[in-house]
Amino acid sequence: ACARYGGSVRRRAAGPDEAPEAGADDGAGDGADEGGPYDLVLALTTAGPLPAVTETALAGFRRGPAPGDGPAVGPDIGPVIGTAGGDERIGDEGYVVARHEGVTVVLADSATGLLYGLFHLVRLGEEAFGAARPAEHHRPAARLRMLDHWDNVDVHPVMGQVERGYAGGSIFWRDGALRDDLTRVRAYGRLLAACGVNAVTVNNVNVHATETLLLTDRLRDVAAIADRLRPYGVRVHLSVNFAAPVALGGTATADPLDEDVRAWWAAVTARVYEAIPDFGGYVVKADSEGQPGPHAYGRDHADGANLLAEALAPFGGVVHWRAFVYNHRQDWRDRSTDRARAAYDHFTPLDGRFRDNVILQVKHGPIDFQVREPVSPVIAAMPRTRVAVELQVTQEYTGQQRHVCYLAPMWSEVLGFRPWGPAGPGVAHVVAGDVADGAAGGGLVGVSNVGDDPYWTGHPLAQANLYAFGRLAWAPSSDPAAILDEWIGLTFPAAAGGNDATGGDDGRLREALHEIMDDSCGTYERYTVPLGVGFMVRPGHHYGPDVDGYEYTPWGTYHFADRDGVGVDRTRATGTGFTGQYPPPWSEVYESLARCPDELLLFFHHVPYGHVLHDGTTVIQHIYDTHFAGVEEVERARLRWAELAGLVPDAPHARVRELFAEQLRCAEEWRDQVNAYFLRKSGVPDARGRRIP
Ligand code: GCU
Repeated sequence: ACARYGGSVRRRAAGPDEAPEAGADDGAGDGADEGGPYDLVLALTTAGPLPAVTETALAGFRRGPAPGDGPAVGPDIGPVIGTAGGDERIGDEGYVVARHEGVTVVLADSATGLLYGLFHLVRLGEEAFGAARPAEHHRPAARLRMLDHWDNVDVHPVMGQVERGYAGGSIFWRDGALRDDLTRVRAYGRLLAACGVNAVTVNNVNVHATETLLLTDRLRDVAAIADRLRPYGVRVHLSVNFAAPVALGGTATADPLDEDVRAWWAAVTARVYEAIPDFGGYVVKADSEGQPGPHAYGRDHADGANLLAEALAPFGGVVHWRAFVYNHRQDWRDRSTDRARAAYDHFTPLDGRFRDNVILQVKHGPIDFQVREPVSPVIAAMPRTRVAVELQVTQEYTGQQRHVCYLAPMWSEVLGFRPWGPAGPGVAHVVAGDVADGAAGGGLVGVSNVGDDPYWTGHPLAQANLYAFGRLAWAPSSDPAAILDEWIGLTFPAAAGGNDATGGDDGRLREALHEIMDDSCGTYERYTVPLGVGFMVRPGHHYGPDVDGYEYTPWGTYHFADRDGVGVDRTRATGTGFTGQYPPPWSEVYESLARCPDELLLFFHHVPYGHVLHDGTTVIQHIYDTHFAGVEEVERARLRWAELAGLVPDAPHARVRELFAEQLRCAEEWRDQVNAYFLRKSGVPDARGRRIP
């Protein structure tokens, strides 16, 4: 930004008591090129109350005199900046940005804050150096904004290098070793900082044999990654095997209450911090889908999490303990066991027992990253526990980065959901720790969608999900369309220019991308799984339709369709009682067939095909209509993209064009399988007489 705008970067430390001299021939303190003129000042301040720091520090910055320009103009930006009240600070990762009398100023308390401020200017582009801008103070809502890589060091025989990865190999690991060239990791750090992400877990939550060694023998690898990411304010975390003390031959048991086990974790953790002083902490998937955990020793999740938390506490590290715990060996004949209930049933009795450096990491929905689920009731049920919400940026159930599916609208709905009703706090407040009498927030976690693909994310448009994840973690109330707009401007600068005179495209690309992406998640939902019932995907890899694929399996993900109706009865009156895990008003809203939102109807109720939705359509007709509509929307998006040839560079244009062909094929397959299935089950023809195979 500085080079482009011919400015110079000034870096100085100024406390409230040492306002710089406002001399006519003096710029802003002790920078190298005294005398300006400069357009941009990036300044580190010492921590102090925000108004005092900004007023005194900024009052000293002057636009330096250009040769022959006469005396410097003293911009009086102090009072403009000093709008924040009381003794508020800029904050660790925060920054203040302003433009006044020809100088753009970014102020921060830390280098990371300055970096985020600089990326803010990049987002603003020309605007940052144009008209005056009143001071704005930005800082992240959530302190922890973490991406979990489900990357394996070894290539796993079934899951490959990256479990649920759709963007090629791992950027960290290759065939059993750390990559020789970590240039890409450094670039990744920069990309993450641009999105606002500040933590990364470098290996899969399913920790296999080789990956268990990252904690000890292969710690050097983790340290090398940490070195590359550190300059961008990104800390490294590690997924660990709960049974590591046994697996690595340290102790005879992994019992969390055993003294030797505690000593083992303490010693190992101390060595981790010797190698990586700013190490973030551990992520643990325990007693979940076959991973080891405290249950084997008759202990509970609090015992397990506290063991690791105790080892990390002296160094300021945290444990992300995952709440994704359920019976994956359920008998499908057993109608009383409900997977949706499991996390709440396991964890709410433990509220208040976790140490304060334990973060309970809860998937946003009660099942597993489906395109439509209610918000997990666990998020509102653990007031004395730090809670993080986990989103899936990688598109396991949403088109696997072969389909365009912009996920920010779904995430924004989750973050905006108010579990206690409209007057209460929302999910975003819980993760930010902004709930009266609640625990500190645990932040936002996303399962990464990045790999060694040249576009980072396989589908070039899936980058928008990575970007949106970071932006929503920073500012959860951001408008998803506005985030997309930012991403478009940063990714396709010509589109940002906006008119032919500046070499732009008159906003055509921007407009088309909004048409293609804004509601693409809605489109995906329409041609796939109806009314929140979930799954219906091919077992194993989870791509494409298979309506009964999981119906008679042990996984607990059923739709119960028969000739009369479909859906899961989770009511208290006649079903599994899951609705009772919500506080009012949702416990009542979801319980009631009349009040339950249509889009979640089949998640909460088993209804006849003739059940009439709020919009007057029957369930069966809704299934037909949405599946035809979804495919038509994909076809329109595909044609819209084709028109953009020449506006988008050739290579990504061709990649997306090919992917659209696959998306259309797959959407038609979904439409035909789902429609045919329900026509055959129900015997009810399409009221509009369309062809259903
Ligand atoms: C899903 C996914 C698994 C993953 C699991 C988890 O079930 O299919 O690959 O391990 O979630 O989040 O732990």
